[in-house]
Amino acid sequence: MKLTEKQQKMRDGEYGRGAQRSIEMLIKVGEVFDAADMVPVGSSHLVIPEIMLFCKGQEAEWGTELTRPLIEDVERFVVPTTINPTILDLGKADALRIPRAFVEEMKPIFQKSLAEYEGRGAIPNYSCTPFFDFFFRRGEHLGGAESVQVLFNNSFNGARVNRETGPTSLAVAVTGVTPRYGLHLSENRYGEVLVDIDPELTRDGLSDADYNAISYYAGRVVVDKIPVFKGLPTDMDETACKYLCVPLAVSAGIGMLHVEGVTPEATTLAEAFGGKKPKEQVTIGKKELQSSYERLNTARGEDVDYVALGCPHCSLNELREIAIMLHGKKVHPDVVLLVAASTIKYDLARRMGIVEAIEGSGGVVVSGMCPGSSIFGRYGRELGVRTVATNSAKNAHYIGAHSGGFVRTHFGSMRRCIESALSGRWRS
Ligand code: F3S
Repeated sequence: MKLTEKQQKMRDGEYGRGAQRSIEMLIKVGEVFDAADMVPVGSSHLVIPEIMLFCKGQEAEWGTELTRPLIEDVERFVVPTTINPTILDLGKADALRIPRAFVEEMKPIFQKSLAEYEGRGAIPNYSCTPFFDFFFRRGEHLGGAESVQVLFNNSFNGARVNRETGPTSLAVAVTGVTPRYGLHLSENRYGEVLVDIDPELTRDGLSDADYNAISYYAGRVVVDKIPVFKGLPTDMDETACKYLCVPLAVSAGIGMLHVEGVTPEATTLAEAFGGKKPKEQVTIGKKELQSSYERLNTARGEDVDYVALGCPHCSLNELREIAIMLHGKKVHPDVVLLVAASTIKYDLARRMGIVEAIEGSGGVVVSGMCPGSSIFGRYGRELGVRTVATNSAKNAHYIGAHSGGFVRTHFGSMRRCIESALSGRWRS
């Protein structure tokens, strides 16, 4: 791979051990994908295992062993660096009914890690939706992990970013470059499969859960090919865009989608496909939507322990809607209603009285925390959680998968989730 003089010096250790290990890692990744060179990035987005996924015990130590050598003698990240959600908002642990013993066990590694990354300049947004808070321009190259931000930035912002891993996202923040392969190259960004949405589906409008269900089904069909959606409303708001992105990253291994007339590289179908014919075509109608709902609803009966909203993190509009839906009502005492937002949106919502409104009705708004698959997927069995209701296909999928089927899920719209939080039952 062709390296600049500066990159070669990094490789030779002139910029320290952390930078040397980081560039070595990126070179190896680049070689696997036949990258010709490195491309400078505008920013990176970190996913740190012991902050988000494995927060205690041996697993947390393995996480730090994987990441710390990359930042060993690094003073500052060289590009703006955002960071994914944490596994728990410590300030809300009691309200979330997380046992003290669990919190005490995780705290030391967790807090030390936060300090390590913030101390090197990571922006403490703690969110998988940095695209709601920061500007990413068309054609800008980015680094970073977290499939939601990858899909959203490639698809709706026209930026260029690959699905990187936790360690490589860190290596990019340390070096400011990433190998030029995959979605950094124009020829790999064209659509391959036409996903036709049956007009019957959109006639009465689509709910947040419907966008999830469409995306979840499409992912199972396209697997590793970029879909081009035809027939979706061209006035999709930020929440709809977010929910169309996220399940594709779960049921498929891709980092990009197109929506005709909405995404910047798909003003027409011909542009989206680069003038070529689709390799495949699929239609999504009521039957296909229903199959997604059936897969994601694994709970039997009406019981609900937790209602988890904000996967990916809530937009300000969603937070407002939740406050409005709860107005004058009370969450059922047997249920925890967990609503998650980035630290930035949380602070805004607090200043606007939205946090107080939701919490006044008995909900718990968390700041910078992943509201489900991290804590309930990895630790649901230990915490004794049996049933989680959610409007997120990603959350439903991973809670079940990561808990080995121990935690079951109800999947439906935000409205339906709120109704279940109020009544304590998931009613059909
Ligand atoms: Fe974000 Fe956690 Fe969902 S990282 S996409 S809230 S699983």
